[in-house]
Amino acid sequence: MYTHGTLVTAMHGHLAFWGAYGMIVLAFISYSMPNLTGRKFYDSTKGLLAFWLSNIGMVGMTVAFGVAGVAQVYLERKVGIEFGLVQQEIQVHFVILAFCATLFTTGIGFYIYEFIKYGKPNDEALETISN
Ligand code: HEM
Ligand code: HEM
Repeated sequence: MYTHGTLVTAMHGHLAFWGAYGMIVLAFISYSMPNLTGRKFYDSTKGLLAFWLSNIGMVGMTVAFGVAGVAQVYLERKVGIEFGLVQQEIQVHFVILAFCATLFTTGIGFYIYEFIKYGKPNDEALETISN
């Protein structure tokens, strides 16, 4: 029998997009920006926080989506409960999703903060360019 749990797809979609496209873009920026600006400084507490919070948040989100998706498919297809009622039953997973999404957003916030703070070339780099 064909089953399609939309939240299982959302789990797959988020982890796949984050891993394949989101992370690679952020990684390119993190590697190339210190070189482009002449900063040559890769480690910072906020940078580490950006990495860990966004990744732990996204993994947590996908686990929440996944567990919600399995419960959703089971209740709809096996037990035969109607879609809207099933959504009410799986609300708790969305509380966890929102919590993990907050971690994720905080991590991205740190990334953007670092990007803006260190995005401009420093004096040393400007001297090298002008010479
Ligand atoms: C605060 C962070 C985020 C939250 C709370 C969030 C939440 C959601 C929700 C609730 C859906 C609808 C799921 C459904 O009912 O099928 C969705 C869809 C989607 N999101 Fe996110 N999202 C977040 C971040 C992201 C990020 C960073 C990416 C990509 C890198 C992304 C990619 C997608 C995609 C591709 C879909 C469509 C998935 C599908 O069709 O199944 N989201 N998101
Ligand atoms: C770069 C890697 C990938 C990305 C960004 C990606 C993203 C997505 C997204 C956003 C969806 C939701 C589409 C929708 O709601 O209409 C989806 C669905 C799906 N993906 Fe992927 N995916 C990737 C790789 C893969 C791979 C390697 C497989 C299997 C070997 C796969 C199997 C599926 C399946 C079975 C669905 C469900 C299709 C459906 O609902 O009609 N994906 N993917």
